[in-house]
Amino acid sequence: MANTIAVLGMGPGSEDYLTPAAAKYLSEAQVLVGASRLLSTFARPGQQCYPVNANLKEAVQFIKEKSRDYRVAVLVSGDTGLYSFASYLTRHLDENQLKIIPGISSVQLMFARLKKPWEQAVIISMHGRSNSEIVELVKKGRLVAVLTGRENTPRSIACWLLSEGCPNAGVKVGCNLSYENERIYSGRLSDLCRCSDDFSNSVMVIGDV
Ligand SMILES: C[S@@+](CC[C@H](N)C(=O)[O-])C[C@H]1O[C@@H](n2cnc3c(N)ncnc32)[C@H](O)[C@@H]1O
Repeated sequence: MANTIAVLGMGPGSEDYLTPAAAKYLSEAQVLVGASRLLSTFARPGQQCYPVNANLKEAVQFIKEKSRDYRVAVLVSGDTGLYSFASYLTRHLDENQLKIIPGISSVQLMFARLKKPWEQAVIISMHGRSNSEIVELVKKGRLVAVLTGRENTPRSIACWLLSEGCPNAGVKVGCNLSYENERIYSGRLSDLCRCSDDFSNSVMVIGDV
């Protein structure tokens, strides 16, 4: 009988935001699978590590094979239910074999940093995908949280929204949330469009918060 595969929401990245439930599964795991950023923070000596790249099929095959003999934990960033590798795994592995442990999302931490509620926010991912729905939302003045990516950076999204005729809304960018080099940028879309700072690993909040 194959072992349970634990899919762990690791929070935004620093150990401070790891839940005790995820920490328990993490410490018991013999094999860890996940993004290099998470493996380099959380792997302990003796744990075999498999960094996930774009080849998700190959990662699933590795997880299936290893789970026959070992306790495997898959580390995903933030929460397992928000634009996560976890949903791919539920479609490609036997659900009965999976244990899903939720985590603190980068979006949750961003709103906590802004000291604002987020029940009215629309959450959009532009991480590895485009989403034109965001234009209408910003035009309507909705509060929008955006997961950004390598191609769709906060700056390129700000310039694009303005070129699509969006108002010059307020914008906040939470960069490297929970890490020592965390930074919150605050301005308007036009300021961000002109800004040359590095905003890798960022969440944007558009709207006057
Ligand atoms: C594939 S999505 C996963 C989102 C994740 N499931 C969550 O709940 O935060 C990855 C994106 O999440 C955001 N993100 C993850 N960790 C972050 C952090 N520490 N600081 C800022 N943004 C982060 C970035 O927009 C990143 O491109």
